[in-house]
Amino acid sequence: MCGIIGYLGEDQAVPVLTDGLERLEYRGYDSAGIAVFESGGINTIKSNGRLSALREKIREQGTPQGTLGIGHTRWATHGKPSDYNAHPHSGQNGKITLVHNGIIENYLELKAQLKAEGVEFKSDTDTEVVAQLAEKNYNGDLIETVVKTVSQLNGSFALGILCEDYPDTLVGVRKSSPLLAAVCDKGCLIASDITALLPYSEEIYRMEDGEICMFTKSGAAFYDFDGKPIEKSAETVGLNAKSADKNGYEYFMMKEIYEQPETLRATINQYLTSEGRVDLGEASKGFGELKDINRIFIVGCGSAYHAGVVGKYVIEELVRIPVEADIASEFRYRHPILDNHTLVIIISQSGETADTLAALRLAKESGARVMSIVNVEGSTIATESDCVLFTRAGIEIAVATTKAYSAQLATLYVTAVYMAQELKTVDDNEIRNLEHYLAVLPDAVEKALGTKEQAKELASKYYEKDHAYYVGRNIDYAGAMESSLKLKEISYVHSEAYAAGELKHGTISLIEDGTLVIALCCCERLLAKTQSNIEEVRARGAKIICVSTEDNVKALKYDDLLLVPATHPLFVGSLEVVPLQLFAYYAAKFRKCDIDKPRCLAKSVTVE
Ligand code: F6R
Repeated sequence: MCGIIGYLGEDQAVPVLTDGLERLEYRGYDSAGIAVFESGGINTIKSNGRLSALREKIREQGTPQGTLGIGHTRWATHGKPSDYNAHPHSGQNGKITLVHNGIIENYLELKAQLKAEGVEFKSDTDTEVVAQLAEKNYNGDLIETVVKTVSQLNGSFALGILCEDYPDTLVGVRKSSPLLAAVCDKGCLIASDITALLPYSEEIYRMEDGEICMFTKSGAAFYDFDGKPIEKSAETVGLNAKSADKNGYEYFMMKEIYEQPETLRATINQYLTSEGRVDLGEASKGFGELKDINRIFIVGCGSAYHAGVVGKYVIEELVRIPVEADIASEFRYRHPILDNHTLVIIISQSGETADTLAALRLAKESGARVMSIVNVEGSTIATESDCVLFTRAGIEIAVATTKAYSAQLATLYVTAVYMAQELKTVDDNEIRNLEHYLAVLPDAVEKALGTKEQAKELASKYYEKDHAYYVGRNIDYAGAMESSLKLKEISYVHSEAYAAGELKHGTISLIEDGTLVIALCCCERLLAKTQSNIEEVRARGAKIICVSTEDNVKALKYDDLLLVPATHPLFVGSLEVVPLQLFAYYAAKFRKCDIDKPRCLAKSVTVE
C-alpha cells in the first residue's frame, strides 16, 4: 500500500527521498511524488506510474535543491491512478503540503464544507481534503494547526507535512496507520516502513496512535493529539539494511524462499528448550486457563488465512477443541459468537492489515482471549494483542509471502503441541515425536528446496497454460489454496484451489484435454481418496502434477512429480508448498512478470 518518506538534514533531500521511495516500492503503488523545500518555496513533482517515470520527470524539470522534503508512493483508493491524484497534495494557497497513508472516512462531508466556503479542489483524493482543511485551519502556529486538523478527521491516517512558513520543519502524524521516525548523523527521517529508515539508522522511534512528531534543525519534539508535549525514546532494532538487499538473487521472492530454513530455525528455536521440549515461556500466560477454552477461531487474510486453515486441522487433531479458520473481512461482520471461553488466534505478517486488526479489536471487545502470530515487532496488531508469538522471518520484501507463511505454520504447530501437552490430549510419546519433527523441520524444508530445478522444468513445460486447478484434502487442501494463490498473484495465470472431493460437484465441467491439475498428495490417510479424484480428472484429459513424499508416491498416478521429504503427517503443509512456491516463481519468470511487485497488489493492506 502507500508509502511515506520524509527527510530534514544536511544532505540534498531528493536522493534521500527517491532512495526511500525505492525501498517502499515493494509495498505496491501506482504513482509517486515528492515535495522539496527550495529557497523559492515548496516544489512538488509527481507522476503516474513507476518511480522511473517520477525520476524522469525530476530530471526534465530540474532536480529541486533543498534539504527538507517529503515523498510518497500511492496505491489508489480515492480517484484513479494519475498525476493529479498522486501525492503530495497542497492547500489552494500552497501553505500546507502533505502526504498521507490511510483513509479519511469523513472526507466527503469535509470536502462539501470546504467547497461551500469557496475552496477549489484539484484531485479526487481524500488526502487533498486534509491539506485544504489544514490550510484553512492555519493560524501561524504549525502544531496548533495540526492538532486542530486531526481532531476533525475520522479514519486512519499517517501524514508527512511541510508548511511554507517553516523552512526547517518536518511534521509526522500517526493514527491507525504506521509511521516511524529516526534521527541520524545527517538529519532526521519519517517513514511508513522500517525498510526506508534502516540505511540511515537502527535507532527508531515507533510512533503510537495519536502522536505527532516535529523535527527541526535544533532537534525532535513529540506531542499528543491535544498538543501536549510527550517524552519518547528511540529503540534499537535488530534488523539491518542488508535484509532489504537481494544478496545476489534476481528477485527478493527467491531470496526469501531460500531463507525459509533459517526463518524456521529462528522461529521454532524460540519455543524449544535445549532438551527439545516445547516451552512458550512468558507467552503461555496469554492463553490463560487452557481448560476453560471451548472454541478457537483463527483469523487472517490471504496467506495468513491459509496458514489458519492448516492450524485448524493441526489443533483440532491434537487438542480436540473445535477450531474455525476465518477470513478477517468476513469474521468482523458476521457477529461471531465469542466469549471468555473463546481463544482467537490472529495471524498477520505485517501486523497492520486493516481487516485483521478490526477482527482483533472485535475479539477483545467481546471478551475473548486474543493471541497473535505476528512478524513485525511494534506493529499495531502486536501492540494490541493480549499475547504475541513472533515469527522470526525478518523483513519480507516480495509481495507474495513465502518465509513469513512458513514461520506462521511453524508457530501454529508449536501452539498446538503446547496446548496438547498442557491439556494432555496426546500421550507423552507422541508429544516427544512431534517435538522431534518440529526440531528437524528446518532441515526437511532445506531438502525440499532441492526440487528447484524440477520445479523450473515443470514451469517451463506448463507456463503457457491459461488455467490451473490445485486439489488436495485436509492439510493438502490448505496447501492447495496457498499454492494456487502464489501462482495467480505473481504469474497472472488463472488458478483455483478445490478440496479434491468437491471438484466433481460442478467445477469438473471445466476440465478438458490438457487442463493442468496440481494434486497435493501428502496426507497419507487420505491418499486413496485423493487418487480417486485424480482418476476422475485424468479420465477427462487433465495433465497431473503430483506433489508427494517418497513413502506415498507408490500409490499415485501422475504425469509429473515433485517429491518432498517425509515428515510428521501434521507438518506436511510446510513441505508441500516449497516446490509449488518455486513452480509459481518460475512460471512468473517465464511469463516475464515483475515477480516482486505484482500488479495491483500491496504488501501491507492497510485499508478495508
Ligand atoms: C499473499 C500475501 C497476502 C497476505 C495478506 C495478509 O502472498 O502475502 O495474501 O498474506 O495480505 O497480510 P498480513 O499477513 O500482513 O496480514
